[in-house]
Amino acid sequence: MQKKIIAASLAVAIAGPALAADPATLKWVSVPRTQITLFYPGQSTQEWMTSAAHRAGATGVNEGKNCQECHADEEADIGKTIVSGEKLEPTPIPGKPGSIKVTVQAAYDEEYFYLRASWPTNLKEAGVFHDYKGLKDGKWTTYGSNRTNKDVKSGAAKVSYEDRFNFMLGDNKGSVANFANQGCWVTCHNSMRDTPNEPTKDQVQAHPVLGKDGMKKSDIRKYLAETRTETNDVGGWDKLKDKSALDDLMAKGTFLDLWQARAYRSLPVGKADDSYVFQYRNFDSGKKPFDSNWDGEKKQPKFMFDPAKNKGAVALTQAQFRDPMAPKLDNTNSVPFDPAKVKDGDILPGFILNTKTDGSADDLNASGTWANGVWTMTFWRKLNTGQKDDVALAVGQAYPIGLAVHDDNVTTRFHYVSLPLKLSLGTKEGHINAVELK
Ligand code: HEC
Repeated sequence: MQKKIIAASLAVAIAGPALAADPATLKWVSVPRTQITLFYPGQSTQEWMTSAAHRAGATGVNEGKNCQECHADEEADIGKTIVSGEKLEPTPIPGKPGSIKVTVQAAYDEEYFYLRASWPTNLKEAGVFHDYKGLKDGKWTTYGSNRTNKDVKSGAAKVSYEDRFNFMLGDNKGSVANFANQGCWVTCHNSMRDTPNEPTKDQVQAHPVLGKDGMKKSDIRKYLAETRTETNDVGGWDKLKDKSALDDLMAKGTFLDLWQARAYRSLPVGKADDSYVFQYRNFDSGKKPFDSNWDGEKKQPKFMFDPAKNKGAVALTQAQFRDPMAPKLDNTNSVPFDPAKVKDGDILPGFILNTKTDGSADDLNASGTWANGVWTMTFWRKLNTGQKDDVALAVGQAYPIGLAVHDDNVTTRFHYVSLPLKLSLGTKEGHINAVELK
């Protein structure tokens, strides 16, 4: 009991060393708050939405009805049904709540857009740690990872994963079909990672464009139906349109902006992960806030700590696992991995942070604070970044959006999501209405 009280009173503030104070913290008192219920979606993909299993819902969805028309205020009930494993969730997480309430505020000034979200976390601590690898009997294996990782489930590895606040944004011309009515479900398909009919690593690697000889992917993440020649019950992950058709779509703005404030992999460097959903969940161009620290061929980390900058040590000790005072591996304190320098029991972060982001990957700022059991995460970005992989915002307009939160050391589908929502800037037509900061 005592331990719990101590943990609950610990506050964690994460802000990038390279940045001045979060400009958004200065004026929030005057910005209206909207409370939105996010629910656990399980494997409710776009194909499920339009299948007979969704009963009367499928007809409505196919006729272009918005999910809100039938399900407004049902979020908590839907989440409760799915999280229990009654439907759409073959591997329920025992005790996980079916929904959470997120408080959202949005604002803008002449140049910037600001979005802030807070929610009470299920755990009485911040999820500010991520993947770790450990050297055991001469072999690097998973030491810490998310709650549904197979080694964590078998008890071979410990639970450790970052919390996240996620924001999906479409343009105000309806360039992505059905996003306004179906929300994030337009990106979520059968045959993706952690959904029904997930392709194997070998199948993905053998694909001429997505695989080894092309984009070098080994799993399938969010994509839009527009980028496929066909989508069907098994998903259509492999039925990619040809390059010129995809280039045309991208040039027309047929993509969704996706912002993720990641408590380990982006907030410590003052950034969010700025991505976009198109034929895959792509990172924006430029140097992003984090990279994998894993060499899949050599089956060992790519980088270790520079001993000159880490009290003589090249790795973390097990006592430093999930220790808030332990250093994070980044571009300023690391050197290439040398197997001769490590010993059994050493652990190393599975990702390396970049303090110097650039290009389009650099234009989305973010900060986060966890205190008294509540996360508050803030994004701020230029209304119009001028980048081809970002959706521009303008005052007086409204945009289709979706929200999601990864809470409680989970990843992929084990998150909470919103029904389709609308964001307005300077008008009152949205679920969330951004106001001008004066
Ligand atoms: C025309 C009305 C209608 C529309 C539009 C609609 N649904 Fe449904 N939905 C239903 C009905 C009816 C059920 C079945 C409820 C039951 O079986 O108890 C259902 C069930 C569900 C379920 C399963 C959980 C449960 O409680 O049964 C999910 C998840 C769901 N809908 C999500 C959505 C989403 C997301 C959208 C938008 C893409 C959507 N629905 C659009 C009517 C609709």
